[in-house]
Amino acid sequence: MAISDSEIAQVRAATDIVALISEYVALKKSGRRWTGLCPFHGEKTPSFSVNAEEGRYYCFGCRVSGDQITFVREMQHLDFIEAVRLLADRAGIELHEDANAGPARKEKQELLAAMDKAVEWYHHRLLNSPDARPARDYLRSRGISGETARQFKLGWAPDEWDALSTSLKFSEKILVGTGLGFVNKRDRRQDSLRARIIFPIFDPAGKAIAVGGRILPPDPNRPVRDDARVEPKYKNSPETPIYSKRRTLYALNWAKNDIIKSGEIIVCEGYTDVIAFFAAGMPRAVATCGTALGEEHFRTMRNFAKRIVLAYDADSAGQSAAASVYQWERQHEVDVAVARLPKGSDPAELAQKDPQALRDAIANAVPFLQFRLERVLDAANLATAEGRARAAELAMQVLAEHPSDLVRDQYLMQVADRLRLELVALRPRVAEMARNPVKREIPSEPFEDTAPARRRIVGAPMPRPGLEALRLSLHYSHELEGRFIAEYFVNDTQREIFEGLSKGLPVSDVIDALERQGEEDAAHVLSQLVVDELDRDYTAEDVTAVVSQLLRSAVAEEMKNVDRDMRGGVLSPEVAMATITDVKERISLLETPHGEVAERDLRDWLLSRSHSESS
Ligand code: UTP
Ligand code: MN
Repeated sequence: MAISDSEIAQVRAATDIVALISEYVALKKSGRRWTGLCPFHGEKTPSFSVNAEEGRYYCFGCRVSGDQITFVREMQHLDFIEAVRLLADRAGIELHEDANAGPARKEKQELLAAMDKAVEWYHHRLLNSPDARPARDYLRSRGISGETARQFKLGWAPDEWDALSTSLKFSEKILVGTGLGFVNKRDRRQDSLRARIIFPIFDPAGKAIAVGGRILPPDPNRPVRDDARVEPKYKNSPETPIYSKRRTLYALNWAKNDIIKSGEIIVCEGYTDVIAFFAAGMPRAVATCGTALGEEHFRTMRNFAKRIVLAYDADSAGQSAAASVYQWERQHEVDVAVARLPKGSDPAELAQKDPQALRDAIANAVPFLQFRLERVLDAANLATAEGRARAAELAMQVLAEHPSDLVRDQYLMQVADRLRLELVALRPRVAEMARNPVKREIPSEPFEDTAPARRRIVGAPMPRPGLEALRLSLHYSHELEGRFIAEYFVNDTQREIFEGLSKGLPVSDVIDALERQGEEDAAHVLSQLVVDELDRDYTAEDVTAVVSQLLRSAVAEEMKNVDRDMRGGVLSPEVAMATITDVKERISLLETPHGEVAERDLRDWLLSRSHSESS
């Protein structure tokens, strides 16, 4: 079951940590490091830092740290072995585990490979097959060009029972595992999707994980048969080992770049809406796949953008559970806005009719609360006192759902104004409604507790010279050969780190070793240091200054021992005084033209002291 250390090291070495983390959050190059918004806690200014060469990350905000393996463990809630396997697959490394290890992983690989083949097969049928002509015509009629069909890998499932199953010779296990087919009552393999346009669904890294299939509109020239069953407009893959609807956002794989660039993510209801947004020049749209927008979707989105624009058709736009939306806004530090689309049109239709109107609707999207209020007020009959009172009642209910009294109050002013009612009369009623909400708020989700298992605050402040020295050791390991020795570090944690680094192993290995020895503080400090940027290039003089500082602190510490030895009678007062004078003189020579000799003498003295102690 175990994976050997050398294979783990191989997996780490083969995994570009910047590319890996970029699948989840946007990273920008900053000096020799990469920085971005921390995926482990909500924040608006980046405090997450990545060292590409050493394969380490650290968040200066929530203090999570780790390497490639811990990153996928925490992002995907995997155990260590699963995370290593995932990265090994990604890097094409074959692990030599026990033969019976990881059946689940092997199964997933097979399902992904099958899904990939199926998507290619459907796609090829759409582009090339004569029987796909009606599908191609239909797509064109909806403004979806051949180029777009290629971009989104759209496909065609022919009007046959088992075209896919037999062409690709999928086993029953694969058919059922992917949801692409099943075994029918007559014990024959059968396709799940038939006579449908295929919208393949990919994970953020671009692996096909599911498909959605849309029927064609009925052919007006063909009479409807009496026995024709009413088919649902869309049939989607079921939940499978490779597909979780709760987590998946359609098109995120293509939209990622523009989302990061623009800081905005557009959420719509369907595959065709997403495609329409891309065609209208807004390639930052995603859709949930046959499920409501939920917590897991937010958790994914907030890693990419801070502004979420809901672009639902007018009837469903205000329907999202308000309490949850506000909670997610707060929890994930995102803003949710709503695009005001003309009544009765969804983005796909609008994009075809009037793409500029669609762009305007996105640009002029309003906060979720404002949108809900407007709907109440627009529907109200403001001509009568009763109408206005009724509208006020509804508006206050909408307002009361928002958790912030400051926000509520600002909108309440608008309501009072519009309804010509006294603000002072409305205010206490909203406050009362907010205190006693009819619906209970959804329980706060457990993310804060589960994710950063390594979160840990280092207690005592670290001596500066030691930190500086370690920083230099990390950045200038070659140039520094021998300038620092373990005896210079008076702080135990710092010395542990230095000794670890002196072995010349990769930093991740040093951190692992420190953790195994129970040196968690040292592991933490090193995790932080390795992503820490030097504020400038260090000259030879700078290095000497750091060495001197460190030496001074080490010597000062050792002087205490000399003093102790003298009092304890181990050293005669004469020898002790001579030593102190001698050492002080050399200290004063550091960073002068005689510094090099002084440094060497002090170093020898410290070494001799530490040897005499240990013997
Ligand atoms: P819509 O009915 O709005 O479809 O459902 P659409 O995306 O606008 O499709 P077109 O424009 O008519 O071709 C929105 C989404 O709800 C899911 C699909 O994910 C669809 O994209 N849905 C809809 C289903 O899962 N099953 C259905 O029968 C209908
Ligand atoms: Mn539609």
